[in-house]
Amino acid sequence: MRRIARPNRLPLALAVLALLAGCGDDRPPLFAADAAGGLPKQADPARGRALIAERGCIACHVVPGVSAPPSRVGPRLDNMGRQAYVAGLLPNTPDNLVRWLVDPPAINPRTAMPDTGLQRSQAEDIAAFLLGPATRGSAP
Ligand code: HEC
Repeated sequence: MRRIARPNRLPLALAVLALLAGCGDDRPPLFAADAAGGLPKQADPARGRALIAERGCIACHVVPGVSAPPSRVGPRLDNMGRQAYVAGLLPNTPDNLVRWLVDPPAINPRTAMPDTGLQRSQAEDIAAFLLGPATRGSAP
């Protein structure tokens, strides 16, 4: 009788375990959520929230804490501190989020998000709001 050679399954099992271990929702945020790390001190989340309402962001985005009829043109802007990438392209650091907000087509010429004419300081206010506790809700 011929023996069928069995591959050693231990490495595979270990790899699966390692993957499963990474699936929990108890991952820490990608960067410290307190200060929206790296933004200038004067970045003001309350001003950012007001700008989101004034600049028409809510025509395209659902934003926790900013009431508007729901829109699904763009993604929900909740819990951004836990997100890995901005617009699927830039590693989600405060600075990259600001870069995106100031001029999305400069980052991705094919994006549907227009340049909304924000000054850098205004984008920093908005980033402080989006990365802060107000948008965190109960989502993982
Ligand atoms: C005309 C619709 C439209 C408007 C107005 C708009 N956006 Fe967007 N936004 C989008 C779309 C579509 C995307 C997805 C872009 C992509 O992935 O290329 C996006 C992406 C984003 C992202 C990245 C989200 C993610 O999950 O990575 C942020 C942050 C963002 N928008 C913030 C804003 C803010 C703040 C404003 C107002 C100043 C605004 N947007 C105005 C359509 C819009």
